[in-house]
Amino acid sequence: VARVETDGEPLRTELALEIAERPLGQLVDVVPVPVWIFALDGRVRYGNHAWVRAASGIGGAGAEATWADACHPDDRSTALAAFRGAAARAANFAIEVRLRESTGACRWWSFAGGPYFGSDGNLESYVGTCTDVTATREAQRSVRKLAAKLIAAQETERRRIARELHDDVMQRLFLLTAKLENMMRISQATIGQLRADVVDARRQAQRIATTIHVLSHQLHPAKLDLLGLVTTLDSLCRDFSRDHNVRITFKAEGALSNLPPDTALCLFRIAQEALQNAVKHSDARAIRVHASGDSAQVGLQVTDNGKGFDPFLQRSGLGLLTMRERVELIGGALRIDSRTKKGTTIEAIVPLAVDVAAQ
Ligand SMILES: Nc1ncnc2c1ncn2[C@@H]1O[C@H](COP(=O)(O)OP(=O)(O)O)[C@@H](O)[C@H]1O
Ligand SMILES: [Mg+2]
Repeated sequence: VARVETDGEPLRTELALEIAERPLGQLVDVVPVPVWIFALDGRVRYGNHAWVRAASGIGGAGAEATWADACHPDDRSTALAAFRGAAARAANFAIEVRLRESTGACRWWSFAGGPYFGSDGNLESYVGTCTDVTATREAQRSVRKLAAKLIAAQETERRRIARELHDDVMQRLFLLTAKLENMMRISQATIGQLRADVVDARRQAQRIATTIHVLSHQLHPAKLDLLGLVTTLDSLCRDFSRDHNVRITFKAEGALSNLPPDTALCLFRIAQEALQNAVKHSDARAIRVHASGDSAQVGLQVTDNGKGFDPFLQRSGLGLLTMRERVELIGGALRIDSRTKKGTTIEAIVPLAVDVAAQ
């Protein structure tokens, strides 16, 4: 007699009543969810087909095996406490534990079950089900890792902007103010001296304006909204080529105007990061940036002839990770084609939403 919490009475349809008459084992054997009954010493007293399939990798399927043997040593006491606590309270339990596979690798399993009491009211065994939650756990972990990296990157960026504003812009504004104060104080100044000071003050004001312009452009390229992707990519390539002394050829083909703003921003950011990586990591002498578009999709390729890397062995930094996240977020795909000594191609393809009304 199972005495565990249930959510109300079972369904009592005609079929349900008929099934209730059939041998229970047949039914439990074929449900596509692992069902197990563990003895009080942890041996497996019963496992349906799905359990045998699920447990075959963890060596827990056999009659002699105890699930505790397969359980990761660090998780054993938690699991035991959950089983015993459930028995003491005649209640259900749900835990996540690591089970060791025969290969030595560990996978995360979620176990849900409850105590099973005999007709004499004594605890006889435990009954329940389980699911392999490794993939979910890994996904959660990589999301958390990404979030942590994003926060750290944002802080770095904020520190850089704060430093630049303080060390550069503030200092220069301070000098400019001092100069203007000086000019106010010279009452008998000759026109010539005053004129020279004004020219100098104007030049300083222009330099400050340029710094702020560059800073704001790096934060968000306003050109993108005003002039579109092609012009902005073109000037990005020119800036990179000039600042890093590398040959960059830019080619744009097909329909690339009037792109949705998030698509244009995504492709721009990918070009920015891919160029940054090419100049930072590849030692390339030439880089090719190619944008193309038609009514169905837009594509961007950044190819360098540098030293390349192995995308499988190389751990992704924030750059590669964010590129992929950005494209996938708008329904596109990122391809990294790179081999050592053969150079690197980063390709992003983003589908354009088809305007149904226009058809
Ligand atoms: N174009 C490239 N050529 C050679 N190596 C590259 C290139 N792009 C990326 N890599 C390698 O991949 C790594 C991860 O890149 P990324 O995710 O952008 O992080 P980061 O640039 O901060 O190191 C780099 O450190 C580098 O080793
Ligand atoms: Mg990078």
